[in-house]
Amino acid sequence: VGRKDINSLLRMYIDGERIAMLTCYDSSFAALMDRCGVDILFVGDSLGNVCQGHASTLPVTLGHMVYHTKCVSRGNSSAFLIADMPYGTYATPGSAIDHAAKLMQAGAQMVKLEGGAWLRDIVSRLVERGIPVCAHVGLTPQYVHSLGGYKVQGKTIEAAKLIKDDALVLQNAGAKLVVIEAVPKLISKEITEALSIPAIGIGAGPYCSGQVLVMHDMLGISSGRKARFVKNFMDGCQSIEAAIRSYVEEVKSNAFPNDTHCY
Ligand code: KIV
Ligand code: NA
Repeated sequence: VGRKDINSLLRMYIDGERIAMLTCYDSSFAALMDRCGVDILFVGDSLGNVCQGHASTLPVTLGHMVYHTKCVSRGNSSAFLIADMPYGTYATPGSAIDHAAKLMQAGAQMVKLEGGAWLRDIVSRLVERGIPVCAHVGLTPQYVHSLGGYKVQGKTIEAAKLIKDDALVLQNAGAKLVVIEAVPKLISKEITEALSIPAIGIGAGPYCSGQVLVMHDMLGISSGRKARFVKNFMDGCQSIEAAIRSYVEEVKSNAFPNDTHCY
């Protein structure tokens, strides 16, 4: 069958089938997640936290992302593969194209970048060069030092409007997917309804077109404080495979996230 592609995602979106996405950093988990029906394997720069032990994603380099993307790509056969552009690698259209090309050569089918309307030209130039783009709005962890911590975003009417405008600007620049992180569920509902591309939520409530979680969080092996939006799918499951299958099933049926996971 080959891998899912951008059209497979669009078809799911049009058919109202929720998209199940998980972060993935190595080949064994890639094969397992793929077998469990995860639609999108996402090599997140959260590997800085969960694999490297850093307190933020800022130390992650393009070299690290290329390495993990290659690992995941080797294990994957049918899922769609997205890789994060790490901190500082997309400051200008030129640098973004050069760096994104390395991720595409490593096996990514799309790259994700964090930020708002300022990314407009960068997104359109990437798209022009055949590099599909996923935007990431709301809580953007690469901005942790500007945000003053990992906090829910879009809590005021003004802040919510800015996030929605950002998402629309980036869609119009050619982004084909948007991740919305840590915003109140009614805000992400409004954004999802305004968009004509899939919105993938994390801590963004049940109205998005799909969901993403960090694999270590959903398997209950992350240390430190557990975010409200995280669910440990190992609870009640006898194996990692069962937990991942249960995640996919709950995203598809919209059982996850429920009100206890939302802002
Ligand atoms: O790096 C990451 O894990 C992310 C989240 C959206 C899952 O960007
Ligand atoms: Na990320």
